[in-house]
Order: sequence, then C-alpha cells, then structure tokens
Amino acid sequence: MPRNLHAVIWTRIGGMPEKMGDLVLSSERADFTYTEAYVASNRPGFCLLGDAEIWANETVTYPISERIPVFPRLLSLIPGNNPRNLQRRHYLDILRAELGREPPLGIETEWQLLLMGGHGGIGHIDVFTNDIVAAHWYQAASHAPEAVNLDRAANGRSQLWSMLRRNVLDENVEFDPGLIEETLGPTPSVGGMIPKLLVSITPSEQRPIFYAPEAAGKQDVILKVEPPEYAGMLDLESLCLDIHREAGFEVPIHHRFDDEDLHFLAVERFDRVAGNPVPMESLFSIIATGDHRFRETGDILLDELGGVFERLRDVAGLASDTEEQFYRRIIMAILTGNGDLHLDNLALLGGLSNCRLSPVYDPAPMRAWPRHNLVSAIPFDASAHADHGAFFVGLGRTLGLSEEGVSECLHAALEATEHYTERVMALERVPEQQRRQLSEIVKQERALMIRHRP
Ligand SMILES: Nc1ncnc2c1ncn2[C@@H]1O[C@H](COP(=O)(O)OP(=O)(O)OP(=O)(O)O)[C@@H](O)[C@H]1O
Ligand SMILES: [Mg+2]
Repeated sequence: MPRNLHAVIWTRIGGMPEKMGDLVLSSERADFTYTEAYVASNRPGFCLLGDAEIWANETVTYPISERIPVFPRLLSLIPGNNPRNLQRRHYLDILRAELGREPPLGIETEWQLLLMGGHGGIGHIDVFTNDIVAAHWYQAASHAPEAVNLDRAANGRSQLWSMLRRNVLDENVEFDPGLIEETLGPTPSVGGMIPKLLVSITPSEQRPIFYAPEAAGKQDVILKVEPPEYAGMLDLESLCLDIHREAGFEVPIHHRFDDEDLHFLAVERFDRVAGNPVPMESLFSIIATGDHRFRETGDILLDELGGVFERLRDVAGLASDTEEQFYRRIIMAILTGNGDLHLDNLALLGGLSNCRLSPVYDPAPMRAWPRHNLVSAIPFDASAHADHGAFFVGLGRTLGLSEEGVSECLHAALEATEHYTERVMALERVPEQQRRQLSEIVKQERALMIRHRP
C-alpha cells in the first residue's frame, strides 16, 4: 500500500448527523481518533471496546492483518467476498466503469467498497471518504423523494427483478445498475453468505411492496433472497424463527413470500428503533478488537466464551442474563440442527454502558446440507467427556449456571423442539434428502441431550 488511506466515521445516534472522528489506515495498523465534541457528547463509540469512555482523546489502534485488514467493527460494512453478494457485484460494476479496467484485488479495492457501501448499514456508524461526502449523503437522505414503489407495476421493479434473476438465479437477463441505484439508492453493505438487500416494506401487505431503505412510514427489513443451491433454506429459517419465538426468545417479526421462482424472507430490523440507529456489534468483532491474536471464529473455544463475557463486564454494562441467554441459544442450535451459530451470528445491541444480546437472527438449520454439517461452528473440545452431548450439558456450568438452571434450559429447549422434525418434514419446498438428513441429525442430538441432562 503506497500511502495512508483516510476516511471519516459519522453517526445519527444523537438524532442529527454528527462526526465521530477520523480513520487512518496504514500498512500496519488502523487508527481512529474521536473529535473533541464527540468525546464530550458521551454517546456510544464506533465499537464497544473502542468507546470514547475508554480511549477519550487517545487514538484507538488496531494491528491489521490480511484476515482483518480494518478495525473488526468495519468488516461488516464491506460487502462479503462471495460470488452471490449483491452489493459487491454492484459496487465492483461501478468501480470497473470508473477505472475502465478490473479493480485490483486487495485492500485498496476493499477500502473503496467500504467507502461506497459503509453507510446506512447495520448498526449506528457510517463511513465516508470525507466530511463533505458525509454531509451530502445525510442531506440527500433527509430529502429523499416520495418512496419508490418497486412492485410489479412500477418501473423500478422490473430492474430490481432483473438484477435478482441475474445475480441470484444466474439467468441471462440484462439490467441497468444505474437504474437500480436511482430507485433503491446504493444499497448498504450487509454481511453474511446469503444474497440480501436492506430495503423497507409496507408490513401489512400479504406480499410486501419494497421501498428504498429508511423510507418514511415504512418498516426497515433485511430482505434475504434464496439462492437456488439452497432450495428451501428460507422455509427452514422461517420455521426456526417461529420455534425460537414460541420458546420465549426475542425474535424479529418476519415475512416469508415468493414471487414466481424468487423466494424471500424479510426480517424486521432491530438495529433501528423508531428510525434511529442502535449500536450493534458481533461477538466476532468484540473479541477481535479485545484480543489482537484472535483472527477467526476457530481461534476460540466455546467454553472460553464465559471468560469473554466476564472480562467484558470489567468495562461494559453487560446484561446479567447474557450467559444464560447465550447457553439457551447454543442448546436450541444443537436441537434444531443449526451448526452455523458462528460469532457473527451472535451480537450485542447497545453501547458500552448498557448492552445485551440482540434478538435472535439467522437461526437457519444449516446441518440439512452435508457441506455445513458441523455440530457447532464455534469449535469445542469434548475429549474429556463421554460424547459431545455430555459436553453441551456441562457447558452450562462453565457459563456459571446452577445445576437447576442448566436443567431448566435443557427442559425448555427440548420442549420447544418436541415436534420440530414433523414440522421440518412438512416443508415441501425443502428437498426430501435435506429434510431426512436434518431430522436424523436432530433425533440423535436430542437423544444425547436427554441421556445427559441432570
Ligand atoms: N433483523 C435484523 N436486524 C438487524 N440486523 C440484522 C438482522 N438480521 C441480520 N442482521 C445482521 O445482518 C447480518 C447478515 O444477516 P444473516 O446472518 O441473517 O445473513 P446470512 O447470509 O444468513 O449469514 P451467514 O453467512 O451467517 O449464513 C447479520 O450478521 C447481522 O449483523
Ligand atoms: Mg449470518
């Protein structure tokens, strides 16, 4: 990298757009310095462990690596490097047109992608090239034209639909990325493997109508679009959201709907309350910011997470039931066949003084697909136990729960999933092989839990 790269972080968390501070990326590290006004405002920082309450006027630094080339909190504002990522495809098309050639691989292009899509995304921070670009963006957002209806009759819809048919269904249809941008605006980056857009909808409709994100009077959602290689996945995800809600978890409202052979799951965003952004940060990002040797989910063991929450409590007002809620989610993941509960699928909502686990998201039971058939995406070592069932029962105690507490969590999860396999088998869009594989796996996990529960 020839020289330092500069950017700014702004936020609307105080109701009005304001600058948080300046970001500099050199070849070895990322630096962030708050403005004096922001330090004095006592508002949440750009990430939990980089909060101004801890750092004040000192520069927050992070030693970057190939795996984490920016502050960990900013990773989710760079579109995922995945062939189906709609934002990456869209922004690379724009960069390609600007450069007149293929954008080079590497941090400078990733940085460009961060600057193009890193505002209006999940959470409360917005990244821009400089303060002028930031001010323009907020001004444009506040003068947004009447929301654009993207449904069937409207002009924008055919462009959006063409884009989805081309990028998700691989159909050879033409669309004009410029027109998509005119109607939807540049849709912000959002993490994860499944193609998705941040849009807003009219929630009462049977089949929602889409509007640009943050349209007045509409509900902001994450709109997931099912890729054909995972047929039925959004039906399974929707079922698991229902089961978690029935089990008493906090779960966002969701709408599952189809349009010919495009399949959608719209999940209401919980990082916005009455239109205002709420800080949200994944456990991955929090752990990586606090421990510079941590580079990927595999660098920590499941039973070390109790220690992470404990250390976090030294500096943060972390809800007292976090360990128990975390344990309940792990057990539900085991009993529903969700082997994909990794550290980006768990997040804290709120600022340093008051944070807690976010509502449940992405509970898709990925073990239905052989290539995702892992007991747990967060690694664990069950070698000191009779089997992994005994490990997961014992995990509750390492998280500080009493024996009765563990017993109650297991009982509740077993009860909530009692008819799960029947409900999976009833999902006709899920290929039979996936339904059978998932049911078999879940039956075995259930038997292990029942054998070892106190
Ligand atoms: N309802 C929601 N409100 C706010 N943020 C959300 C919501 N649902 C998901 N997110 C955020 O969006 C990101 C991507 O969503 P999600 O995890 O559902 O996608 P995915 O593609 O299925 O992910 P994965 O790669 O884990 O399979 C999440 O990591 C989380 O930060
Ligand atoms: Mg996810």
